[in-house]
Amino acid sequence: MNFWRLATLCELCSTSAINDTSGQGSVDEKAIGSLMRYKYFVGLSNVSLSTHKLAKQTTEFLTHSASLAVDGNPNSVDTNCTHTAGEPNDWWMVDLGRVFQVTTVNIINRLDECNCGDRLDGIIYEVGITLDSWEECGRFDGPGIGRLEINITCHRAMYGRYVRIRKLNQNALSLCEVFVYS
Ligand SMILES: *[C@@H]1O[C@H](CO)[C@@H](O)[C@H](O)[C@H]1NC(C)=O
Ligand SMILES: *[C@@H]1O[C@H](CO)[C@@H](O)[C@H](O)[C@H]1NC(C)=O
Ligand SMILES: *[C@@H]1O[C@H](CO)[C@@H](O)[C@H](O)[C@H]1NC(C)=O
Ligand SMILES: *[C@@H]1O[C@H](CO)[C@@H](O)[C@H](O)[C@H]1NC(C)=O
Repeated sequence: MNFWRLATLCELCSTSAINDTSGQGSVDEKAIGSLMRYKYFVGLSNVSLSTHKLAKQTTEFLTHSASLAVDGNPNSVDTNCTHTAGEPNDWWMVDLGRVFQVTTVNIINRLDECNCGDRLDGIIYEVGITLDSWEECGRFDGPGIGRLEINITCHRAMYGRYVRIRKLNQNALSLCEVFVYS
């Protein structure tokens, strides 16, 4: 299903002030502070919107690329997981390709002998219509150790093309798979 919404994008605006409307336009441009219409899609709730999409992360440890969290392989062992270098404010993000209504973000955490699952000790999940309009979907404060699945349902209806997972504490961000659902 496709819907159109009218939005004002600015750093201090929140999507709670947005009203549904019908119309035409596209969000695939930077339009901070201006009124814009964008189309959003509500997908099947059982199909992950992030799988095989383009992913990025701030820093990369060895060959642990950002794409390992959207490769469709939820294996929770070290080599199948992303891994940043552990710089301050490390994040990982995925571009869903177009704006969706995002309801749930599920993470597969590390569950290997290294017990590195504890590195998920404070993360914030954000959704952005653009790369400059992040809004908080939810948080996980940990402890992550021994937790294979960390599922977050956004506080409220959220719309976005980008989903970002940001570390609050400084240590490596390691994600074995990230599933985003509408
Ligand atoms: C949204 O709709 C409500 C009810 O019609 C109205 O009171 C409110 O001003 C509208 N908000 C915006 C941002 O247009
Ligand atoms: C998702 O749900 C649809 C409709 O119920 C079904 O046809 C499809 O097989 C499901 N896909 C997966 C991956 O479970
Ligand atoms: C996990 O990663 C290793 C090393 O890259 C690879 O050989 C293996 O096939 C992956 N496991 C699965 C289940 O894909
Ligand atoms: C997380 O979500 C997945 C997919 O809906 C579900 O299969 C799994 O049981 C959930 N895990 C937890 C711990 O809630």
